[in-house]
Amino acid sequence: MSTSITSERNRSPLADRMLSWRDDFPILRERVHGKPLVYFDNAATTQKPRSVIRVMTEYFEKQNANVHRGVHSLSEVATTLYEEARKTVARFLQAGSPSEIIFTRGTTESINLIAQVLGQVVIRPGDEIILSELEHHSNIVPWQLLCEKTGAHLRVIPILESGDLDAEAGSRLFGPKTRILALAHVSNALGTVNDLAPWIRLAHERGALAVIDGAQAIPHLPVDVAALDCDFYVFSGHKLYGPTGIGVLYGKSVWLERLPPWQGGGDMITSVTFQKTQYAASPQRFEAGTPPIAQAIGLAEAIRYLEAVGYADIQSQENRITEYVLQRLREIPGIHLIGEPRERAAIVSFVLDGIHPHDIGTVLDQQGIAVRAGHHCAMPLMEHYRVPATVRASFAFYNTLNEVDVMIEALGKTVELFGR
Ligand code: ALA
Repeated sequence: MSTSITSERNRSPLADRMLSWRDDFPILRERVHGKPLVYFDNAATTQKPRSVIRVMTEYFEKQNANVHRGVHSLSEVATTLYEEARKTVARFLQAGSPSEIIFTRGTTESINLIAQVLGQVVIRPGDEIILSELEHHSNIVPWQLLCEKTGAHLRVIPILESGDLDAEAGSRLFGPKTRILALAHVSNALGTVNDLAPWIRLAHERGALAVIDGAQAIPHLPVDVAALDCDFYVFSGHKLYGPTGIGVLYGKSVWLERLPPWQGGGDMITSVTFQKTQYAASPQRFEAGTPPIAQAIGLAEAIRYLEAVGYADIQSQENRITEYVLQRLREIPGIHLIGEPRERAAIVSFVLDGIHPHDIGTVLDQQGIAVRAGHHCAMPLMEHYRVPATVRASFAFYNTLNEVDVMIEALGKTVELFGR
């Protein structure tokens, strides 16, 4: 298989297309410790194409103004760009309307927002919130905070050794007290792609709401919130080739209309007196203060860029890299892959006997290779596998098979260096 992949790589039209997309990312030409950068930390944040950098620079150079406030021309331009960005996101997610799209600072803020406002409306003491063992801390701690405040309880869907959700044990957790299911679409540490439909259906059958953390899914697979029928879906711009400081909370309008505001301030009201404030409708109700305007514009451009590349090519290239890396990693003596899920996005986690993941990360960095070593903000998952940390390599469509070879060679040197 190695030979066929290797011999294919120079003549595949897909590889040619991908190499040309790769040119759009200036940072990929950088060197680290004198070596060409091999960027395999895409699950932490992706690199930015030139077009995203350009629209944001243009905004600051030519269009910068506050939104929804001024009658002057620049404010109108900025408002149009900002609201067009919302429409782009709504279309991208197949949402029913742009008013179902709330801009936040990122996934973490989106989950905190929804946990706090849902908490006021649907959670009573003794209620239950179901999440899973493979969640990122950002889809655990906000719900724990809510439980502490309200007297609700967390129930946890266990995982199988493969890193897939244990459907049998998990489905038994749903009962008359279930109010919310909060589930990752894709695990940031293992790459497991959760088959959401049965879980969302189960939640709805029990009268519960489904909140989906899509931070690690949306860079890799098309998301259709209408088809999924989830009540809320969240993601971050910076993992989708866009800027940091922007995230999205999609919510079904039937829920957003019922929910109270989150933060108070300008832009989220229709009138204020010292006696009573009237709140604006969604999305303004949930966007107090000056929003991340340049970042929203950058995110919309990132979406246009991603659509131009197309999920079909993105998935073909990422699958090709992931299959190759798994095959090559298995050749390394003393390696243990953490999780072998049925369906995997472009993320692999592993440990090497007798070498701490942080040491592996440091040695790889010396070779110009960026991976993440640590608990990946998923400490309960690490506990499941009884490891303090793993090495995680996470890929984007701009990565190449040659880069995988560079990492495999560096891992071989790491094993030698640590004397095994
Ligand atoms: N949540 C990001 C990651 O998994 C930072 O690396």
